[in-house]
Amino acid sequence: MKALEWMGDSLKILDQTRLPVEIKYRMATTYEEVAEAIEKMEVRGAPAIGAAAAYGYALGAIGYSGELAGLSAHMEKVQHRLAETRPTAVNLFWALRRMEDRLRDQHEAKELAEIRQALVAEAENIAEDDRRVNRLIGEHGNAIVTAEANILTHCNAGALATVEYGTALGVIRAAQQAGKKVHVYAGETRPFLQGARLTALELMNDHIPVTLIADNMAGFLMQQGNIDLVIVGADRIAANGDTANKIGTYSLAVLAHAHGIPFYVAAPTSTIDLKVPSGQDIPIEERNPKELREVFGVQVAPPEVPVYNPAFDVTPAKLITGIITEKGIVTSPYSVNLLKMMVRS
Ligand code: MRU
Repeated sequence: MKALEWMGDSLKILDQTRLPVEIKYRMATTYEEVAEAIEKMEVRGAPAIGAAAAYGYALGAIGYSGELAGLSAHMEKVQHRLAETRPTAVNLFWALRRMEDRLRDQHEAKELAEIRQALVAEAENIAEDDRRVNRLIGEHGNAIVTAEANILTHCNAGALATVEYGTALGVIRAAQQAGKKVHVYAGETRPFLQGARLTALELMNDHIPVTLIADNMAGFLMQQGNIDLVIVGADRIAANGDTANKIGTYSLAVLAHAHGIPFYVAAPTSTIDLKVPSGQDIPIEERNPKELREVFGVQVAPPEVPVYNPAFDVTPAKLITGIITEKGIVTSPYSVNLLKMMVRS
């Protein structure tokens, strides 16, 4: 199961809102359809959102049939539409910036076809980089996994959240491939249930032992000595190491700290946003109240009950044991070490 696949003139998107009940794809042929798929979370997870947006940008150029002179105004519209889909994962803006840079490089091109080809090639590069980077995250992260480990993860930071392999689940895959005996506790991740619907499915498909728990069970498991390690993904890491990830991550970090359990974040460097000084400055998406009042269309709360539904929270850097990236593992002091790592090639 691939989250997304470029088909030459369209983007095949696995509709993750339907999993695991139904395997359904959307063939997106326009940038608007890609934007809609990101908004509706048919494609989700920071790196997958970035790659999808890059292909969406390329589709924006493919769908343009006007004069060459009008292309840049059109592409600004495309960029704006894709950028407004989800605010927290910085990979979206990172990927769109790469695409805009590539478009700017084409200022001497005489044919639209040439520009379209260059943009598709750049989207393919972004996807290929993600595949490569996730493997490296796995290799580095394997070092922190003991020979037998019960690992708690949250949300889905796996193959479904990336182009391939995953970040947090990439580390777990690498550890298993290295012969380690890993067992994963997947938090169900209310309200969108990425843990129950996606992580459980992904790990089962790969024959990695997994046990599903409700989010409110994590503390009890830690108290019983059943968790050795927590590994989660990230949507945006501020310059000081504060990390935005799926709502509920912060609670797990506090619990891990209280129980002396290592808490790691696994993410590509494209998730690090040095322009944002601390977690306070990370925009947190709020989603539709229906996600709490209903589960899969079934009402579970009074229809008019006021709802607060932030999709992410911020874990302060002081609760993070290390950040596993494709360039290695960064530890405190993050303000110094993240910057050092980012300038290193
Ligand atoms: O709202 P989602 O499903 O897009 O949120 C996903 C997460 O929070 C992931 O942990 C994060 O994007 C990292 S994915 C490798």
